[in-house]
Amino acid sequence: MTIFEVRERYLNFFKKHGHKIIPSSSLIPENDPTTLFTSSGMQPLVPYLLGEEHPKGVRLANSQMCFRAEDVDEIGDNRHTTFFEMLGNWSLGDYFKKEQLPWVFEFLTNKDEGLGLDPARIYVTVFSGDKESDMPTDTESVDIWKKLFLEKGIDAKLVTLDTEKHGGEVGMQGGRIFAYGAKKNWWSRSGMPNNMPEGEPGGPDSEIFYDFGTEHNNSFGEKCHPNCDCGRFIEIGNSVFMQYVKRNGTFSELPKKNVDFGGGLERLTAVSNNEPDIFLNNVFRDALHILEYNSGKKYSEQSEAVIRSFRIILDHMRATSFMIAGGITPSNTEQGYVLRRLIRRSIREADKLGIKEAVLAEVSAVYGKSYAKEYPFVSESENKIREEITAEEAKFRKTLTQGLREFEKYAKHSTPDIDAEVVFRLYTSYGFPIELTEEMARERGMSIDMEAVHAKMKEHRDKSRAGAEQKFKGGLADGGKETTMLHTCTHLMLAGLRKYLGKDVHQAGSNITAERLRFDFTHHEKVSREILDNVEKYVNEAIEEDAPVILEQIPKESAKDEGVEGSFWEKYPDVVNVYTIKSNDGVVYSKELCGGPHVENTKMIHDTGKHFKITKESSSSAGVRRIKAVLIKD
Ligand code: ALA
Repeated sequence: MTIFEVRERYLNFFKKHGHKIIPSSSLIPENDPTTLFTSSGMQPLVPYLLGEEHPKGVRLANSQMCFRAEDVDEIGDNRHTTFFEMLGNWSLGDYFKKEQLPWVFEFLTNKDEGLGLDPARIYVTVFSGDKESDMPTDTESVDIWKKLFLEKGIDAKLVTLDTEKHGGEVGMQGGRIFAYGAKKNWWSRSGMPNNMPEGEPGGPDSEIFYDFGTEHNNSFGEKCHPNCDCGRFIEIGNSVFMQYVKRNGTFSELPKKNVDFGGGLERLTAVSNNEPDIFLNNVFRDALHILEYNSGKKYSEQSEAVIRSFRIILDHMRATSFMIAGGITPSNTEQGYVLRRLIRRSIREADKLGIKEAVLAEVSAVYGKSYAKEYPFVSESENKIREEITAEEAKFRKTLTQGLREFEKYAKHSTPDIDAEVVFRLYTSYGFPIELTEEMARERGMSIDMEAVHAKMKEHRDKSRAGAEQKFKGGLADGGKETTMLHTCTHLMLAGLRKYLGKDVHQAGSNITAERLRFDFTHHEKVSREILDNVEKYVNEAIEEDAPVILEQIPKESAKDEGVEGSFWEKYPDVVNVYTIKSNDGVVYSKELCGGPHVENTKMIHDTGKHFKITKESSSSAGVRRIKAVLIKD
């Protein structure tokens, strides 16, 4: 079956069950400052899952374009991609478990209307409960699954594993339904119940796995079980029973219980062909031919390492096409930076395959054709895609050749570790990206002291650009005194908001100019004027205290462990800057992860005779509030 057939069958199946088919939202989220990309089908639907009425009704289905940057390092195996389509169906307070599980099972096993999978190859997981958040075991799903398997002549035994570790120790034990805890069978955009921010919906889920029947590889654990990564099982779908929301630090039942189902289209297609390698799906075929032709290597005849290079290019170039067609261009920030990394990494992998000519524009362009019917905007942007990739490739090929030569020279001398100085020089002299040097070192089993590298980078930045890059990072419009003062006030204000509204308040976005600060934060309801007054008071006290602002550099993991406040951790390097604002007798007003700049002492603000004032508090998007504030004289 092709990707197109599977998508069509799925949508028709749910249409038959009363679902309205809605279009895929854009890959770049609209009105959501908290994430760079749409990474699941439910993301654009959050307001409706929280209770808002959807214009199309209470049963919806679609195929959503998704991108998961956090999976970049996993690309190269047979099942992960950064860009993928997620098939989804939703009940907005309408049907629940009793309808959802039978429908999905029917879709997977029915030969005429679904994928015709052999039920004996299907294994499922359910939620075993979570003591910490006081969530019960999902026995209802167990009963439904037992009945469904029985109808196919399978006596489905329940095995409770709780954790992946335990699963690896005890194995399958003849089970068909496996219960795992919150780490595996609870879904929210931020993972386990206790990680969920205020206003976030989530719930227990039930995942479906396909068994390729391959032999267990015990480097992944002593014994195999559905959540083992050895390759025997692949997850093909997840029904989330989204019935809770985090409010005031605890869980409440949503007024209406929802279903959020997501299934990877590429994976579903692969299993319908009983083919473990998703890169053999039809959409990759033309791109693969170009790579085979130009490298003179046949994909099916290569070692794992070479196949990995093929897969990275296939994946990254598809994502690149969709991103550029979606309006992103390579740059050094945000989505543009992710795009640049995808292109540069592909160039390096092409180089490894022995492709010395620029072919990536060609590879990328064929995806427009593969997706012409479903996503015509990609082929309509073919010229732009070619131009951007060609320009980036021309630029980076030169860098790559020089950088690789230098790297090899240094690598010979500095075994088993690459000196931080070398990494730094490759970056400053050849523009060689640090993560690429890191990757090359890893490939040779060498290590790099990243803390030392980041310290050097910081020193360099401070010297050469007076921290201009860092200022930009912090969401500041410029590095002027007014802006810097407001930036320090932003830290104090966040600490104040967390003091009065609770620890679920986190930064969701910030923009500071010389005139005002604008700050988005996670919170589910309007903040009363009384609380805003208290927060103002908190900030003004710290200003009047003439408190020093102390910068420390500490490893990211220790900062996390110490409970330093921060958002977007994944965007920061291994060693992070932490700013602490502390009174002279040791009261900590704020301790936060940040790229700076800040005033050295709140006395700088105090001396201006201005005080801090919150001028506006409003809604920004679902579960996110926005504050505007200024420094003014009375
Ligand atoms: N939202 C669920 C997921 O992404 C279905 O797995």
